[in-house]
Order: sequence, then C-alpha cells, then structure tokens
Amino acid sequence: MSASASRPRPLVAGNWKMNGLKAGLAEARAVIARLAEPGFATGADAMICPPATLLAELATLAKGTRLQVGGQDCHTAVSGANTGDISAQMLADAGVTAVIVGHSERRADHAESSALVRKKAEAALAAGLTPIICIGETAGERQAGLTLQVVRRQLEDSLPSASNPANTVVAYEPVWAIGTGQTPTATDVAEVHAAIRETLVKRLGPGASALRLLYGGSVKASNARELMGVANVDGALVGGASLKASDFLGIFAEAYAS
Ligand code: 13P
Repeated sequence: MSASASRPRPLVAGNWKMNGLKAGLAEARAVIARLAEPGFATGADAMICPPATLLAELATLAKGTRLQVGGQDCHTAVSGANTGDISAQMLADAGVTAVIVGHSERRADHAESSALVRKKAEAALAAGLTPIICIGETAGERQAGLTLQVVRRQLEDSLPSASNPANTVVAYEPVWAIGTGQTPTATDVAEVHAAIRETLVKRLGPGASALRLLYGGSVKASNARELMGVANVDGALVGGASLKASDFLGIFAEAYAS
C-alpha cells in the first residue's frame, strides 16, 4: 500500500470562503506573477477557490498561467428552479476546473449529508470538474476516539462510483482545526491519511496511491513544511492563509521550494 511508487504531484488550494471583493483579485494577480517566476515551486500545483462573484474574472486572469481556479460548492442538478444555487456546468462554463464539495461549513451550516455531497461530486464529474471532497471529524468525535471511523464513513458515503485517482481529490479537514490555529500532530495526520488511503485503495485498487489527498485546517507557512512532509499528504487546502498572496506563497516556499 506504499504511496511512494507513484506519489502524486502536490496541490495547494486556497479556499477564500465568503471573503474577497474585486480589489482582492490583486492578491490572486500577485500569486500568478510569483508562480510565473522561473523555478518557483515547480513541483506543486496551485489553485484559488474564490467566492462565486469573482470566479469568472479570476478564471480569465488565470487562463494560460499556473494558477487553477475552483468553485466552493455546486448544486446536484445541471439547471433548474434552484434560486441562489450554482451548477457544476455553470462553474465549468465560467472557466473553473475544480470544485470543493462537502466542506464542513456546508455540512454544518446547510445540513449537507454525505449522500448529498456524493451527488454534488457526481455532478462535478459529469461537468468535467475535479471534485475536492472534504471530510473530517469534530472535536467531540476525536475526543470520543471516533476519528478514523467517522472519516472512513464520510469518505465511503461521499465518494462517487465514477471517481478515479485522476479525476478526484480528497481533503482531510478536522473541523476543530479549521480557523482555530490548532493542528493535529504530524503523527495524527499520518494516521488519518493512512486510513483514508487504505479506504481509497479498497475502493479504487492500488492505483489509489495516485489520488491527491490534501490536509486542511490552520495550514500556514510556519507549519507547512512539517504537515506537507507527512506520508500520504499530497498538498493542502488553505483557508485564512490563502487570502493574502504573501501568506499563500509562503506555504509553497516552505513546503515546495524548488
Ligand atoms: P483555515 O486554513 O482558515 O483553518 O481553513 C481551512 C479550511 O477550511 C479550508 O477549506
């Protein structure tokens, strides 16, 4: 079950959440410019998932650059009477190549179940987008010793049958580590990521070692090298530290300097 044979190319994705006005695109421009400098973190991919209002403009800015653009959520349907929602096809039409689904803030604030998350991920795949499927335990679940059980179950129930190592990304985000400055120890991250990998291998076969498995939750430049160095961690999903170009780029500089 070693992942070393075909270690995936890392991905660092910034989730801006409900942050960012047009002026914030200056930060994305700075990221694009730095990524274009010869030799800068050439071993890793970069993505920004801005709010829906900035998606099309950022996708246009990022066209032909190293920066990929992702959405933060999508509806299960292609179109219809769903006021306020955005379909995966609309995201693709706006120039987006990936979409976060099942973020814990959506699971908690919008009562999204893993069954719904799977349907969203299916919609993403059908639109040609890469779903970034988020899973993670709450503080209470960790304290009760249920972390691996919860994470395995969320993964099993959220992963579409059409997923394969090339078209899907999984992000482990312990809920208690999001926006708190707290992170699990490297040993804890290694344990959970190994369990996720094992579950993926059971579902998808040995090729699952090539599926990108991100860690998210209070990632910043100062802890990026340690966290990104953990076995089976193939990049990061970054919230707060993705809003400023200097913070976001610091993560690449620390973890993926080349
Ligand atoms: P923070 O990096 O702000 O903890 O957020 C993580 C996250 O939720 C990314 O999706």
